[in-house]
Amino acid sequence: MHKLLYMMASPRIERSYSLHIANAFVDAYRQYHPQDRIETINVFTTDLPSFDGPVINAKYAILHGQNATPQEKTSWQAVEKIIEEFTSFDKYVFAVPMWNFGIPYRLKHYIDLLVQPGYTFRVDPEKGYVGLVTGKKALVVYASGGQYTTPPGQDLDYQSRYIRAILNFIGITDIKELTMDDTLNADRNATVERRNSLADQARMLAKEF
Ligand SMILES: Cc1cc2nc3c(=O)[nH]c(=O)nc-3n(C[C@H](O)[C@H](O)[C@H](O)COP(=O)(O)O)c2cc1C
Repeated sequence: MHKLLYMMASPRIERSYSLHIANAFVDAYRQYHPQDRIETINVFTTDLPSFDGPVINAKYAILHGQNATPQEKTSWQAVEKIIEEFTSFDKYVFAVPMWNFGIPYRLKHYIDLLVQPGYTFRVDPEKGYVGLVTGKKALVVYASGGQYTTPPGQDLDYQSRYIRAILNFIGITDIKELTMDDTLNADRNATVERRNSLADQARMLAKEF
């Protein structure tokens, strides 16, 4: 049995292009792999612990083996819980809208909790950074109002480049991607057609994923 985590990063639910395509993947995955467990984290409705001064103090106290206060320990445990939950999965599906050329702030918040030395990466004196979340695979569905696959828009793509960089950084290198760009195009029919075609591609990917 494998465990698949579906990370929803659009708050638009019914109207979301990335969720529509990722949902098609997840529904097909459920049919192709009925023995597997699928869980969902919607970063907009999940209560994420703050990652602020006291938590960062807790992090450094604990990482440096210094005495942490009971309050620091508790706040760090909440971060550890997020990391343990994420790393317990074998496969990931991310639905990621582009917001201001990057990713929605709630997904960034989640990533800031997840990416911690000694947990999801380590620093090797010879090799440099080494990702610790290995042997996993991911599908990322990107949506953006405009087009960023060719210059000059390409330079402004801090969405797919960032997600790819972060996943690679923590050790997830087997990554499939589907990009639904130009969602704000005035030709609604053509947009829906492209969305449906990507949903079909997503369903096909689900079989061998
Ligand atoms: C806060 C916000 C910021 C956005 N910034 C961008 C942007 O920088 N570039 C872009 O092409 N589209 C931008 N969009 C449009 C979204 O990328 C587009 O609506 C996309 O379909 C969102 O994904 P979703 O449909 O899965 O929610 C923005 C939308 C919102 C709500």
